Amino acid sequence: MLSSKAMRTHWQVVASSTDVSPGPLGVRLLGDDYVIWRGPEGDLVAAPDRCPHREAPLSAGTVEDGCLSCVYHGWTFAGGGRCSDVPSADEGVPIPPKANLSTIGVTEKYGLVWLCPAEPSAPIPEMSVDSDPSFRRINTGVAVWKVSAPRMVDNFLDISHFPYVHVGTFGGAQDSNVPPIELVDLDDGYHGYRYEVVAKNPEEAQKTSGSAESVVERVMTTGFHLPLAVRSTIAYETGLVHIILLLATPIDEVTSYFTFVIWRNDDFDVPAEDVIQFDRAIGEEDRVMLERLSGELPMERTALVSVRADKASVEWRRRFAGLLEA
Ligand code: FES
Ligand SMILES: [Fe+2]
Repeated sequence: MLSSKAMRTHWQVVASSTDVSPGPLGVRLLGDDYVIWRGPEGDLVAAPDRCPHREAPLSAGTVEDGCLSCVYHGWTFAGGGRCSDVPSADEGVPIPPKANLSTIGVTEKYGLVWLCPAEPSAPIPEMSVDSDPSFRRINTGVAVWKVSAPRMVDNFLDISHFPYVHVGTFGGAQDSNVPPIELVDLDDGYHGYRYEVVAKNPEEAQKTSGSAESVVERVMTTGFHLPLAVRSTIAYETGLVHIILLLATPIDEVTSYFTFVIWRNDDFDVPAEDVIQFDRAIGEEDRVMLERLSGELPMERTALVSVRADKASVEWRRRFAGLLEA
């Protein structure tokens, strides 16, 4: 995965927008360290986390008025990564052009910070619900999981683990048999399947589901967007729609950032933290399970035994392997 140049041409989440103001923030993507800070105009700047002078980590520096100063000899970098001050140099002596930082692509969308180290080959996955005023968006923070990112996507597309891994949350009421999965193109460019789930609705879940019944029916879709995004939509009988975007970003081959974003058309009364509490508990169940798996997800088609219920994961893995080779 790290050796694939293609991975560097896709936007990937490394932080929440609120993590960077004003910065500097150090992050790691595909085995490389980057610094991110908010420049003089409020736009983010991202560059390798290495000062061009003596390679001090720029993320250990300080930001003032949108300019990042290196902690070692005080060289200062302004908007666009331009080196604006070398304190040790005589006044009037021009700053060498190589002192400017080689910035990389950085942008903010859905309350998240996305990096793209090379020329982007595709836009950030679309979430058209983000512009629908009847939905609110809830961000949940970015965590680090000791799991290979492809293993996370494989898990997010899989429903046959629900009655086992999620027995402590919503999984207890579900039949372990998975009905045939029919893969279709969903809206916004996601590819996946529709299904119905009978979910346990314990008290902790009732603020999320908006129902006081002990069991609720959910009509769901789950689909992927290359390389590593999965979207699940949950429609309840009450008309409540709860949409989750799950994102895995490779820090390196076996460590990843994880975040999820929620959009829902509720009456906005229940505090955001109460709404996401149940989803957080579900995510924790996945993390604990996945951190038990070691190493990378094998990419060769025949390396793992799959059954009918794994259809979506298998199709994503086939397309993801193609992307890595491209
Ligand atoms: S290493 Fe950054 S200013 Fe010297
Ligand atoms: Fe899960």
